[in-house]
Amino acid sequence: MLEVDHVGVIYPNGVEALKSVSLTVRPGEIVAVVGRSGAGKSTLLRCMNGIQRPTSGAIRLNGMEITSLRGEALRRVQQRIGFIWQEYNLVLRLSVMKNVLCGRLGSASLIPSLFHIYSRQDREIAVRSLERVNMLHRATQRADMLSGGEKQRVGIARALAQSPVMLLADEPVASLDPELSWQVMSDLTHVARDEGVPTVINIHQIDLAKAFCDRIVGIARGVVVFDGTPAALTQSAMDTIYRHDPRPALEAAGVAA
Ligand SMILES: Nc1ncnc2c1ncn2[C@@H]1O[C@H](COP(=O)(O)OP(=O)(O)O)[C@@H](O)[C@H]1O
Ligand SMILES: [Mg+2]
Repeated sequence: MLEVDHVGVIYPNGVEALKSVSLTVRPGEIVAVVGRSGAGKSTLLRCMNGIQRPTSGAIRLNGMEITSLRGEALRRVQQRIGFIWQEYNLVLRLSVMKNVLCGRLGSASLIPSLFHIYSRQDREIAVRSLERVNMLHRATQRADMLSGGEKQRVGIARALAQSPVMLLADEPVASLDPELSWQVMSDLTHVARDEGVPTVINIHQIDLAKAFCDRIVGIARGVVVFDGTPAALTQSAMDTIYRHDPRPALEAAGVAA
């Protein structure tokens, strides 16, 4: 269970990116976070995996407060949080298999992992992860030989190889064409359901959010303005999420509107 409890983020330049955001994601639940560019979606995801420390509030994952962890304790938790990036973040000169094995790196002890030496168990986990996104047949190819959709499947396999306790994806299909976007979202949400872990996906495309996610959270100017099922996302809710009113954001930034 993921609990976001009144989280606020003010960046050093004074931008208030999140204002008292609260939401809960249950094990196996897939939540889409939607909103305009600049609404605070990426900031929220970075707080969830501890890259960004909130200015106020707390985030708990299975009862453990991520927001207060530091150093080695934080790295241990981050090792089990699968993160899927818009631009895949693969090591292009390495093989597909080695990229997925990178998901095991934090689990290995230091010296073997420095030399990218993996245990038999790590290799088995990587093979199973590739199988689950139908990419095992590409295991020995270099990552730069893959199409965008295939790269993102490898990104998903790498996250799975972390044996994740939570999955986070920041605009995972924003670089793909519409048809591939549907396929990759289908893969991602299938494996997320199988894993049974809390899953949060920042996504632009409302149709995809509605088709694949259990719940939709709408953020506008750092505030949760909608939290409900896809069916409850009415046109008026959409208007609230996407209403173009830059003044509050400008005020928060200390700029006169
Ligand atoms: N590192 C940063 N320093 C200062 N301001 C930032 C930083 N990252 C994001 N912002 C600002 O915070 C707000 C939210 O950004 P972000 O979380 O990236 O939104 P989204 O992902 O919804 O597009 C925006 O106004 C953005 O310009
Ligand atoms: Mg973003």
